[in-house]
Amino acid sequence: MHQGGKGGHPGVSIGSRNLPSWLGLAGVAARLVVHTPRPRNWMNPVGGPEVVGYTPGVTRPGVPPRGWFITIEGPEGAGKTTQVAALSRYLADAGLDVHITREPGGTWLGERLRDVLLARTDSVAATDPVTDALLFNAARRQLVTEVIRPALESGRTILCARFADSTLAYQGYGAGIALELLRTLEHAATDGLEPDLTILLDLPVEDGLARKAPGDLTRFEAEFDVAFHRRVRDGFLALAAADPGRFAVVDASRPVDDVALAITAAVDRLVHSDEPNPAVVRTLG
Ligand code: TMP
Repeated sequence: MHQGGKGGHPGVSIGSRNLPSWLGLAGVAARLVVHTPRPRNWMNPVGGPEVVGYTPGVTRPGVPPRGWFITIEGPEGAGKTTQVAALSRYLADAGLDVHITREPGGTWLGERLRDVLLARTDSVAATDPVTDALLFNAARRQLVTEVIRPALESGRTILCARFADSTLAYQGYGAGIALELLRTLEHAATDGLEPDLTILLDLPVEDGLARKAPGDLTRFEAEFDVAFHRRVRDGFLALAAADPGRFAVVDASRPVDDVALAITAAVDRLVHSDEPNPAVVRTLG
């Protein structure tokens, strides 16, 4: 399970309603009570005419509801694992059936590819970045087909640490592979599935790298220089600027509870919006 630690097995269902210590009962209740009437087809797991919880799925006339697809991205040391765990508790407390996963990983094959992709390769030739892109997308394809699509279609919310934006940032902006090629590979892996919301945890590269323990360095942290990681950060910011409807950029250099609150605010905006969600049209329409 991938619930706060890097070494665990990913893919846990969170059905329990633990009260998040970082938020407290009042905060949760305040976020659950929304006094605006909802459209009739919005399903309400909390009940009552005025107390409206999160919708269990994205809905649109004529299209079956599906779960929310939320990704968390960012450069090294941004705190994704901590924030995914906190957000999953928040959403589970609000009545959503949340499934946490990660990239690369989340399936048997994906976890094997993760081991290979992140291993330090001191004694062998450097991995070609297109090879990296192919392998990340192979893991992605398996995750999308085996886990993400079936979960979304059954109404579950997916919370994924990293997704296709990471390939654009690392292999594209970082390693210099043409974005056009990467988008072609991405499409082969996802069949056009895009997150409803992408939280970009942004912080200065030096700060993020300094948060990492020396013994916990992956190939990307150990073998790529600071200039590479700066390009990755700038790449993420460029992706966010180009798609402000999908991205929420959060300053990850702030205290961890502040970051968590900024994330839940962005998620609240998504799930309480009555606007048709373009992602639904793209993926289900
Ligand atoms: P993480 O689990 O600590 O984020 O480690 C994953 C590493 O893999 C991180 O250094 C970013 C890198 N990566 C890519 O280079 N391309 C990708 O498409 C993905 C998903 C991750």
